Amino acid sequence: MSGACDPVTRMAYTLPADLVQAVQAEPRHWLVTGSAGFIGSHLLEHLLRLGQRVTSLDNFATGHRHNLDRVQVAVGDEAWARHRFIEGDIADPATCATACEGVNIVLHQAALGSVPRSLQDPQTTHRANATGFLNMLVAARDAGAGRFVYAASSSTYGDSPTLPKVEDVIGKPLSPYAVTKYLNELYADVFGRCYGLQTVGLRYFNVFGPRQDPNGAYAAVIPRWIASMLRGERCRINGDGETSRDFCYIANVVQANLRAGLATSAEAVNQVYNVAVGDRTTLNQLHAALVENLQRERTNLAIEPPEYADFRAGDVRHSLADVSKAARLLGYAPTYRVHEGLAEAIGWYVANVG
Ligand SMILES: NC(=O)c1ccc[n+]([C@@H]2O[C@H](COP(=O)([O-])OP(=O)(O)OC[C@H]3O[C@@H](n4cnc5c(N)ncnc54)[C@H](O)[C@@H]3O)[C@@H](O)[C@H]2O)c1
Repeated sequence: MSGACDPVTRMAYTLPADLVQAVQAEPRHWLVTGSAGFIGSHLLEHLLRLGQRVTSLDNFATGHRHNLDRVQVAVGDEAWARHRFIEGDIADPATCATACEGVNIVLHQAALGSVPRSLQDPQTTHRANATGFLNMLVAARDAGAGRFVYAASSSTYGDSPTLPKVEDVIGKPLSPYAVTKYLNELYADVFGRCYGLQTVGLRYFNVFGPRQDPNGAYAAVIPRWIASMLRGERCRINGDGETSRDFCYIANVVQANLRAGLATSAEAVNQVYNVAVGDRTTLNQLHAALVENLQRERTNLAIEPPEYADFRAGDVRHSLADVSKAARLLGYAPTYRVHEGLAEAIGWYVANVG
């Protein structure tokens, strides 16, 4: 195992040794979109650590310049010199074309996340997630990029009650966000069939970890609750707390992206994959686990019991992934279970937010 260890930010997760070797064996030029965001900044950091050349793109819609600054500090100036940052919007085709110039592998993460945001303002979500996605596909095709890996979403399972979720059994989308993410898969498939572009869609299931934004109306549950607990505020659970998710630590997501970028078998490309752990955690269990971990870090931290509110529109009730397809075709093997990821993430939030 080898990986990132940042004593300042207490981020220490590792990537499997075979993957590290495979990436290092051949320096390539990667494009990471959404690099100032949570997942994109982790991809950028690991690629630079592994000796790769990286172009990255972000318009700071939800990402932050301080995430790029943290990556620079973590990787050092020599690695940072292999990075070119473009501040720009994927809704602009010319920006996408510039970003894709000379790129071997695209890891497309830029999008507006959050189901509630998309319900509030479906057009802005569509502009980034649908129009921006199509622009990126066109730019990657025209630049002759060898592989286009993109962030899909478990929201594509929509109202399908089937558990665990298997890639080819989906329901109807429950939000505009889910529509855009399903549209991404349809477009990627068509670009494979019609233009021979090699695409790989990764349906992330509730990713969490260091640098995930705890602030703002659309923050994800884990960083929002950790920040609330550290500030002495009460957490709100939407519904009865028995809603469940397959929470996936960022280390697993970085692994899946790099494996998808390098996969050589013809069978593995022009496919979509679940990226999760295969563990089901209810919101009540998550709250209890966060309390336990935080009180281990801060022994006299007082945390109030959660308050319960109405179920939230557009939310899926249960989410649990079957990850066997990614294991079989990409060699994906999650290295972090939920509790291991939570312990590391909490250490980071205590050091950086609390
Ligand atoms: N975090 C999760 O649990 C999760 C789950 C499923 C799918 N995803 C997908 O993963 C990807 C990354 O999510 P994240 O959690 O890192 O979110 P994030 O908000 O931290 O990162 C997204 C980044 O994209 C940038 N961006 C948004 N619109 C843009 C535009 N028009 N042009 C250029 N940049 C733009 C933002 O500024 C931000 O830096 C997204 O596509 C998201 O839909 C995330």
